[in-house]
This record gives sequence, structure tokens and C-alpha cells, in this order.
Amino acid sequence: MFTSNKHAVHSPYPDRLKEILTIASASESREWLSFWPIINMTGTPLWKLPGLARQLGIAHISIKDESTRSPLGSFKALGAPIALLRLIMRRWPEHNLSAQDLFAGRHRELLAHFTVISATDGNHGKALAAAAQAIGCGCVIVIHANVNAERELAIARYGARIVRTTGNYDQSVEEAARLAMENGWNVVSDTSYDGYEDVPRDVMQGYSTIAAEVIEQSNSLPDECAFTHVFVQGGVGGLAAGVVGHLWEFHQLRRPRFVVVEPEQADCLYQSAAAGQLRKATGSVDSLMAGLACGEASPLAWKILGPGADYFMTIDDTAAIQAMQVAAAGNAADPPLVVGESGAAGLAGLITLLQHPLGKAEAGLGPQSRVLLISTEGATAPSVYETCVGETAKSVLARQIEWLRVSRDTR
Ligand SMILES: Cc1ncc(COP(=O)(O)O)c(C=O)c1O
Repeated sequence: MFTSNKHAVHSPYPDRLKEILTIASASESREWLSFWPIINMTGTPLWKLPGLARQLGIAHISIKDESTRSPLGSFKALGAPIALLRLIMRRWPEHNLSAQDLFAGRHRELLAHFTVISATDGNHGKALAAAAQAIGCGCVIVIHANVNAERELAIARYGARIVRTTGNYDQSVEEAARLAMENGWNVVSDTSYDGYEDVPRDVMQGYSTIAAEVIEQSNSLPDECAFTHVFVQGGVGGLAAGVVGHLWEFHQLRRPRFVVVEPEQADCLYQSAAAGQLRKATGSVDSLMAGLACGEASPLAWKILGPGADYFMTIDDTAAIQAMQVAAAGNAADPPLVVGESGAAGLAGLITLLQHPLGKAEAGLGPQSRVLLISTEGATAPSVYETCVGETAKSVLARQIEWLRVSRDTR
């Protein structure tokens, strides 16, 4: 399914959106993240895929590889930690707390009875647990029935207490809110709801780091974006909003076209675009793309995506698996890449759209198109990855290293 967003606004970045996301606050978040030792702040790679671009009949593809952002294996390491820092700073303004000291665990005593809680389908919870462990506060993570044991273990490894609920992601969000109320804990959610916007706003600001790095790595100028199209995957929409908001503010009227890609079973953003207002997903919400399996969009993210995203589309799980395999295979011109299930959605969306003449024409995709993709995760569930790709992530990475060696030698 593909739809043009009739409510997209082609104006300079609106002032009302600056209350949610600005380049200035994103820069501060980026600087703070540099104090968390596990973060790769030299920037994640922006790989070029000229071989695939040629095969698909477009001018250029770049893919931002968030698998190497931190040992956590996904871009989510950029969001929850920032929201946690800002939450603590707001709670104790009189202490003048710094990001550096907090990440170094120098305020453990102050935080001994401070507990944060969140629902997750894996990556957000892992990032929150890891940040809470570094900073020295308590952490409870609520997972739903379909979060696999591998992902659960990866979160528990960072010292979080795990609560498993029946039901889907949206029900786990409700359960986290209920537990927080009952126990006096603090919700650090990546999705917003009525009266709860500060934390998810801070999470989205952290994600903008990806867009800031892309601008630098692609030598984009305000008047000259290196890309004509950006394909970005959507769960609750926070990542997409962080990327759209940042690039819109930077490029203003020259912003690229944004295509938001979701699983067909969890199409809340697509349905919202079609209706011109927030709508729930129409499908089962369960998807192989675990990070995108959300039934309700974040209203705060929608404030940016409603006017800022140009197209919305859905893909099936098979398309994601094929995209994972294409990325892992590489070719003489393109490096083999470890792209996880949710990470592959943007590439899957691009491949799918190029096969549909009407959607392709409507989105203005053709031989001149220069496309940015964001691989938001590596093999965060290694056994799922291996089943989908037919090869372990370790083996794909070994081929990547060999590809780099050969391409260096032949340069
Ligand atoms: C790997 C991955 N990609 C993309 C997303 C989507 O992000 P958002 O829910 O902010 O839209 C998630 C969310 O958990 C994720 O884990």
C-alpha cells in the first residue's frame, strides 16, 4: 500500500514545530551522548551502494548503518539515554547535574531510590536499561507476549527487572504506565500520550543525531541536499519525526521527499496519513519487524510527520527478509551489511515501490533519484537474523571485512 500525504506542507520549517525539535537542542543531545563511553560518536558509517542503485535503476543509494552505534546494536541508544538525562536534570535542578558526571555514575547515591520504567519491543528497553545501569538508577522494562527470549535476555543483561505481559506492544505501554503510577516510578517512553510529551520529545531529539551526521557525511548544504528521497521506517514514528524535523529545518524549502515505511500489520502511520488524523493500525500489529510492530502512532511524532512526510507505505514481512538478504549479500561494488529485520524496512520499501509504476511515478523516483536509507539495527536478535538471511551476522561481517580489504587493495 502506498499513499501520498495530502496534508504535507511545503513551507519553511514551521515555528510551532520548533517547540518540539530544533537543530540547536539536537546538537546539545549529540554532545551529551559523546560522554557515554559505549556510544560510537565518530559517527556510524554512511555506506554507498552503487551496485544496488544500478540494479534498481536509480542514481545513488546511501545507507546509514546504525548497527555500529553501540554494542546495543541499534539507533535506540541515541534516544532513551538522552531522555533519562533530561528527566533527572529536571527533577534535581538545584544540583546542576552534568551529562558527563551522570554517565560516569557520579550521582548513584542521589539516584539510589529513583526508578524508571518503560514498555519496549526490544531496542528502546535495552537502551534504557544500559543507560540506567551506567547512571545508577533502577530500571523496570515491560515486554509484551511476542518479544522473543533472546531480546529479553539482552535487556536483563543490563540489570533491568523484566515484567512480561500478555497482549501486544500497546498493552505493554498501558501496563508500564499503570506500574509507574502504582509504585511511584518514572516512565521513559518513546511514545507520547495525553499529558506525556517531554520525555518522548527528548527521545526524538536524540535520534536527530543520525540526520546531523548524514548532513556532514554527505556534504549536504542547506540549499543542496545530497538526497532527493529519504526512506525511513516507522514504529510509533519517533525516529521518522527526528529525521524529518532535522532535515526539514536544515534544508527548509529544499528538503528531500520523505517516504515513511511500516509493516502492513502495523500501519498506524499509513492509516493516519490516509485519514488526515491519528488512526490506529488495522492489522494484527504482530510483525517480524519487531521494532515497527506498533498499533498506535505517537501523537507528538505525528505533529511533525503529518505536515512533514510526503508519502506513507506498507510492506510485508517477506519484503523485509528479501531486503536483509540483499544487504547481506553485497556485490563487487557494495559491501555486505548486517541489517536486521526492522533495519531493512527502508530498503524493502524502496525495492517494493520501484516495482510499482504508479507509486514510483507519484513519488518521483527515477534514474536521477538519490536515496538515503537508514538501517536502524544490526542482528539484535541473532537467531532470527540467521534464520532470515541463512548466514550468521558474524559471517556477514567477516565478508564485509574481506570486501573492505579487497576494495582498498584495488583502489
Ligand atoms: C530497529 C528499529 N527501527 C525502527 C524503529 C522505529 O522507531 P519509532 O518507534 O520511533 O518509529 C524501532 C523502534 O523500536 C526499532 O527498534
